[in-house]
Formats: sequence, structure tokens, C-alpha cells
Amino acid sequence: MLADIRKLVQQTLPRSIDVYADVPDSLWPVWGDATQLHQVFMNLCVNARDAMPAGGTLHITAKNLTLDHDSAQRHFQAQPGPYVIVTVADTGTGMGPAVLNQIFDPFFTTKALGQGTGLGLSAVLGIVESHGGFIDVQSQVGQGSQFQVYLPATFEPNPAAVTLPNLLDGSQSTVLVVDDEPAVCAAVRTVLELHNYRVMVAHGGQDAIALLSEHVDTIHTVLMDLMMPTMDGFATIPLLKHINPDLRVVAMSGLNSVDAVAKAEQQGFQGFLPKPFTRQDLLQRMQPVD
Ligand SMILES: Nc1ncnc2c1ncn2[C@@H]1O[C@H](COP(=O)(O)OP(=O)(O)OP(=O)(O)O)[C@@H](O)[C@H]1O
Ligand SMILES: [Mg+2]
Repeated sequence: MLADIRKLVQQTLPRSIDVYADVPDSLWPVWGDATQLHQVFMNLCVNARDAMPAGGTLHITAKNLTLDHDSAQRHFQAQPGPYVIVTVADTGTGMGPAVLNQIFDPFFTTKALGQGTGLGLSAVLGIVESHGGFIDVQSQVGQGSQFQVYLPATFEPNPAAVTLPNLLDGSQSTVLVVDDEPAVCAAVRTVLELHNYRVMVAHGGQDAIALLSEHVDTIHTVLMDLMMPTMDGFATIPLLKHINPDLRVVAMSGLNSVDAVAKAEQQGFQGFLPKPFTRQDLLQRMQPVD
């Protein structure tokens, strides 16, 4: 796969960018979804290109590494064991700490309107984590950036025997997302699907009621915007609960006041997700509370 990526990148990046790849034949095997992993590395290479408008160098390197207990502890939720590390490094603009802190958040972009959705890296992280891996980033303004993708190596011949640690897994449960903004629906869908949820989308209260009536046996959770034109979240919730009294409905809103949260709870919402939210906030809020 990395040989393919290298070829593709060499053919598509501007001539002003030199591409080097150092990928040994002795890499350990990684089990994964080839389409998704391809997307991970292409996203990183495209970001690197965008960071080098005046040209520069892109390095794609890979190596094997066994993480011992101590080094695993330095990475959030990492398990000790064998990993393949793929590094995508550029000599571009680099990033300061304020940008670095937000790069994995859905919608975070420093690109001009219409130039970037800000969903690239949130999808990258979602995919890597769903493969049991994690990402390290080093960058400084003016010094370029380095993204290290750690993927657990697997010597087990049967992939079914591999259990990936994923604390925020959706276990194929269905979530109905209701928001009048298509971009919000799309972002939420990307994140949830990467974490093994099935997602249905409605763009307003009426749509939501129609979808729930049709799929009352499969939809157990609804994530609904409070502020929508025509029929808002408060007007919709009693009708949804009428169809299924046990439905779990989580409110999302940019109105993040104590009053708004209290009102939502009073009206029968089982949770509140203030906008804007991070991938982690969203996944945590989707987990059943016990
Ligand atoms: N290699 C890099 N060098 C410098 N900044 C980067 C690099 N990769 C990501 N960034 C910063 O992180 C932000 C978020 O990246 P992300 O890929 O999520 O979205 P995007 O590239 O802006 O939009 P999209 O991927 O949807 O086209 C970028 O806007 C940029 O500010
Ligand atoms: Mg991007």
C-alpha cells in the first residue's frame, strides 16, 4: 500500500515538492481496512502538500517498533506490543501549539472558506483508532510537521482473532442524527460510522418523526439539534417519545447556558452536547449511561 501511495503522490503533487520514501520490505503485517488506511495516508500527504505552497520535501517512512510498557504509557490508551510506524513528514509551514491542539477536531481548519472542510484529520484519527492505533504529531512554526501513525502489527493469521481495544465502539447500533445543517450531519456521520455506528440523518423534525416511525425497532438513540427552523428540538421530542417512550434523545445546541441544559432535561432529553464539540465529546455522549 505504501508503494502505491508513493507512486500516487509522486504523480499528483506539484514538481516543486520532492517526494522521498523509505519503506523497508521487512515491515511487520498489519490487519486493516485497505480503503480506510489508504485514505489516512493520502489525507496526511495532501495536508503536507497544502503546507508547502512554495515547495519543499515530503518524506514517507515506515519502521517496526515494539512498545514496552513504559513507552506505551506515554501514549494515551496505548497497549504495549509490536507496531508498524508510518511517518509522513513535510518541510512546510508547521504549526504552533494553539493550532496543534485542535487539528483533530471535526471542522477545525485554517484554510480559506471553500478550501478545506476540517474533516480530514478527524477522519484520519477515527480510522487509526478503530485499528487499535494512535498518532503522534511533532511540529513547530516554520519547521515543518511530522505525523507518526502507529498501527498494531499482527502475526495472527486469522484476523477474527484480533480484538481491537476500542472503548467508544458503537457495536453497530443505530443513531438518528437530526440537524438542519447538512455539514453538521455529515461530520457527525463520519465520526460515528468510523466507530461502528449505523447512522440515519434527518434535516428537520418532520423527517425525524417519519424515519423513527419507519425504523422504530432499530433506532434507540437520537441526536437532535435544538434550534431548527419550522419544527425545533423542543417541539419534536414529545412526538418522538410518543412513538417510542424508551427512546434516548440527546440534545445538541450552540446555546450552551445552564438554562438551556436545564430546559432540555426538563423536556425529556437524556443528555446535552454543547456545540462545537470534539470527536471525543460526541463519542462519549453516545455511550449509554449506566
Ligand atoms: N502537515 C501540516 N502542516 C501544517 N498544518 C497542518 C498540517 N496538517 C494539518 N494541518 C493543520 O490542521 C488543520 C486541519 O487539518 P484537516 O486535514 O483536518 O483539515 P483541512 O486540511 O483544513 O481540510 P480538509 O482535510 O477537509 O481538506 C489544517 O487546516 C491545518 O491548519
Ligand atoms: Mg486535510
